Amino acid sequence: MKRLVPAVALALFACDDGGEATPLSFEQTLDPAACKDCHPDHYRQWSGSMHAYAATDPVFRAMNARGQRETEGALGDFCIQCHAPLAVQLGYTTDGLNLDDVPAHLHGVTCAFCHSVEAVEGTHNNPLRLAMDGVMRAAVRDPIDSPHRAAYSPLHDRDDLRSSALCGACHDVVTPAGVHLERSYKEWQDSLFNSTNPAQRNTCNDCHMPGRTAPIADVAGVPVRRQHDHSMPGVDTALVDFPEREAQRARVQRDLDTLLVAELCVLPRSGGAEVELSLENVAAGHGVPSGAALDRRFWVELRAFADEGVVYESGVVGDGEPVAHLDDPDLWLLRDRAYKADGSEAHMFWDVAEVVSDPLPAPPPSPDALPGFGGQHVVRRYVVFDPEDPRTPDRITLRVRARAIGLDVLDDLIESGDLDPAIRDAMPTFDLAGTVLTWTPEAAERRLTRLTGREALCVPADF
Ligand code: HEC
Ligand code: HEC
Ligand code: HEC
Ligand code: HEC
Ligand code: HEC
Repeated sequence: MKRLVPAVALALFACDDGGEATPLSFEQTLDPAACKDCHPDHYRQWSGSMHAYAATDPVFRAMNARGQRETEGALGDFCIQCHAPLAVQLGYTTDGLNLDDVPAHLHGVTCAFCHSVEAVEGTHNNPLRLAMDGVMRAAVRDPIDSPHRAAYSPLHDRDDLRSSALCGACHDVVTPAGVHLERSYKEWQDSLFNSTNPAQRNTCNDCHMPGRTAPIADVAGVPVRRQHDHSMPGVDTALVDFPEREAQRARVQRDLDTLLVAELCVLPRSGGAEVELSLENVAAGHGVPSGAALDRRFWVELRAFADEGVVYESGVVGDGEPVAHLDDPDLWLLRDRAYKADGSEAHMFWDVAEVVSDPLPAPPPSPDALPGFGGQHVVRRYVVFDPEDPRTPDRITLRVRARAIGLDVLDDLIESGDLDPAIRDAMPTFDLAGTVLTWTPEAAERRLTRLTGREALCVPADF
């Protein structure tokens, strides 16, 4: 059933050169393509973002289809309310199963959706109220005349703490069973960054929408302002042909490269070594991983060598191999784990009765702290000893690797017949440059370890 959209009468728009430009109709303001000519940078960046991809995403479609089947439709619009919110608002879909029949310009989290928000009426599951009046809201206080009405909104202004509530409204998911499954907003709220102190404050947009000085519309007479990047990389990337696919993937790599800092301290022993590995989240304003952390796989690969022979390894997986299936008691795997009511492992939202999470945390509130190196390191101890080959390692390599969605999760969807197996092959594995280290006695510096305070040989030397 399609709800009728009120037609909004707009005054005729007069161009600088005295000519008449046609005002956008309300229907036109709903279509991202209508913004493209005047806001080409915003359009291009958004078109490669996960917001544009949210309803194209084959993994989303597969999970939603399976969820609808397994709950006999009880899931309703739960998933699609965030993945194509305008399509739900305008009555084009009630369950997201008919997306191919929904006009493509209503797929995903669109320009008009974000720019129409006039109130945030909760903290999770998309409680955003839309004005639906054709007014495009953002943080420009004195917009010049344009073919659409425009207005300043504190909910869109990264310098205003309330702007995080707009993003957070969708970036916190509570399942129909009441489990708080995705918690990026909650994690941010509990962090140092949720602060009225400008030296500490970082809203979502401070980090996710970096600004540059440029005109915000490609129209004659437009002043120079702060233009905000709309590509919003995280860890997820398009797994099918999609605009800006390679560029978006490069942005994800760039951000992951500076996300974590690692320190590797080694106490050589005759016949082996003890290793203390410290990881610190130095860039994210929430946990690592965050959000869809049930699907995320961030893991440590540690390998020790003696005379070029491997004497120890943890977290080593082949390209197409799920890390969750490793038989590796030392494996340091960062992800949320979820369980069904009967205690067995759950991969799917609607099955989850309990979730257990221990991400690398964001810095907690503290009166004097400054963002950055907050001392939030998490340390693990490894014992490198192979009774079959008791040699002292002379080289140890480290890298933290990341996959947006575990191959075990994709396999689960392939087995149920909901996902095309070709999608699995497209899933990238990222190595985080800040964690790629090689330890040798020569490259290391002697200092005290963080966990047990013993003198050890540590890399990087200039930590
Ligand atoms: C014919 C050109 C044109 C088209 C088409 C157009 N805009 Fe604009 N838009 C402008 C101009 C001009 C401004 C004001 C720029 C300034 O003052 O620096 C503007 C301002 C904005 C602002 C800032 C509002 C504020 O006060 O903070 C937003 C948001 C916006 N447009 C969104 C959109 C969206 C979304 C679309 C597509 C539905 C769109 N625009 C289509 C020309 C256009
Ligand atoms: C996920 C929400 C979201 C989506 C989707 C989105 N925007 Fe924005 N946009 C924002 C926010 C938030 C700001 C204000 C950032 C600030 O000033 O702190 C903004 C700012 C703007 C501005 C004002 C200039 C600037 O760069 O600050 C324009 C113009 C704009 N967006 C156009 C678009 C267009 C066109 C699209 C779709 C192609 C789009 N936006 C999609 C959230 C969004
Ligand atoms: C209508 C709900 C909604 C709103 C509002 C929203 N988002 Fe999103 N966002 C999503 C969805 C859905 C996805 C993921 C889509 C997918 O991958 O299938 C996403 C993806 C992202 C990602 C990429 C995550 C990854 O793993 O790669 C980032 C970063 C992000 N959003 C930031 C923001 C910021 C910042 C704002 C506020 C300006 C915001 N979002 C507002 C729904 C929303
Ligand atoms: C201090 C900077 C900072 C702030 C503040 C911040 N983020 Fe992030 N965020 C990052 C970085 C860096 C990444 C990339 C690393 C990653 O994926 O964990 C990221 C990743 C993400 C992801 C993908 C996470 C994952 O593991 O799947 C989402 C979703 C996201 N942010 C949403 C938000 C939202 C919503 C807010 C505000 C409530 C926010 N972020 C505040 C820096 C920040
Ligand atoms: C409250 C809004 C909301 C609801 C409800 C929601 N999602 Fe999402 N979804 C998001 C956001 C936000 C992201 C991006 C999170 C991130 O990247 O960390 C996302 C990401 C995803 C992804 C991208 C892959 C991944 O793991 O990053 C899939 C698939 C997905 N959701 C499926 C679903 C399904 C299926 C449902 C219903 C059972 C659902 N979502 C319900 C907001 C929502």
